[in-house]
Amino acid sequence: MRIDVITLFPDFVESCAKVGVVGRARERGLIEIATWNPRDFASDNYRSADDRCYGGGPGVVMMIDPLRKALDSVRRASGSEHGKAIYVSPQGARLDQAKVEALAKRDHLILLCGRYEGVDERFIEHAVEEEISVGDYVLSGGELAAAIVIDAVGRLQDGVLHDAQSAQQDSFSDGLLDCPHYTRPEHHDWGVVPAVLTSGDHAAIARWRMKQSLGRTWLRRPDLLEQAGLDKKQRALLDEFRREHEEKTTHDRDSGSGE
Ligand SMILES: C[S@@+](CC[C@H](N)C(=O)[O-])C[C@H]1O[C@@H](n2cnc3c(N)ncnc32)[C@H](O)[C@@H]1O
Repeated sequence: MRIDVITLFPDFVESCAKVGVVGRARERGLIEIATWNPRDFASDNYRSADDRCYGGGPGVVMMIDPLRKALDSVRRASGSEHGKAIYVSPQGARLDQAKVEALAKRDHLILLCGRYEGVDERFIEHAVEEEISVGDYVLSGGELAAAIVIDAVGRLQDGVLHDAQSAQQDSFSDGLLDCPHYTRPEHHDWGVVPAVLTSGDHAAIARWRMKQSLGRTWLRRPDLLEQAGLDKKQRALLDEFRREHEEKTTHDRDSGSGE
């Protein structure tokens, strides 16, 4: 996969894309990432890529032409003649795992990072295919949002993760939150690893994990559960989890340990 990022802060994106899973994927040639600075396409000696807002008010806006020329260069370099950008923006559709999976299947992404008040609306109308938000809050620039997209999409590329199964077990991939995980030591002042995980009984472990995953989703994200379309076996496991949870809550309350 190739990802081109149009940004006023290429170093920011480069430093995020250099480390961890994405960094290793780049080194191994599994993902290609290039950055493009609109200032390199400015028409004046000041390398201006922004100007004041029409209508007055605070702040500046990113200008059309440096962005347009940057996009033209991306198109030439990547061979995608009509490629449009994905603008990371608080006004876009909120990113979720389903969207990440759809983006991960593409061969090429062009990410546009805004700064200041954002990007001239005419550029968005003509050169942006969609807007993606990383959440209902405002960042000072799109670089962090682009780094999120790159990381989430990058780790799903074939051969990037050591164990491809680990992505399939992560939260959201089956519409549920992931189960709890434990590592050594088995016995610790802060608790003991659930016995089933050290039993070697793979069927029992899979059952326990599914039950925890369902229970966590019920406790923390009931909205996901409504859309998950549970089968009969999953519904039975969730009922079991709820019964046990209610018994524990009652017990803790009666013994005063929940306070
Ligand atoms: C200060 S923000 C501009 C916010 C804009 N005036 C608005 O209220 O919609 C500057 C840039 O940060 C990026 N950004 C801010 N919040 C974001 C979010 N939640 N998701 C994705 N990008 C975001 C966008 O690229 C945006 O152009």
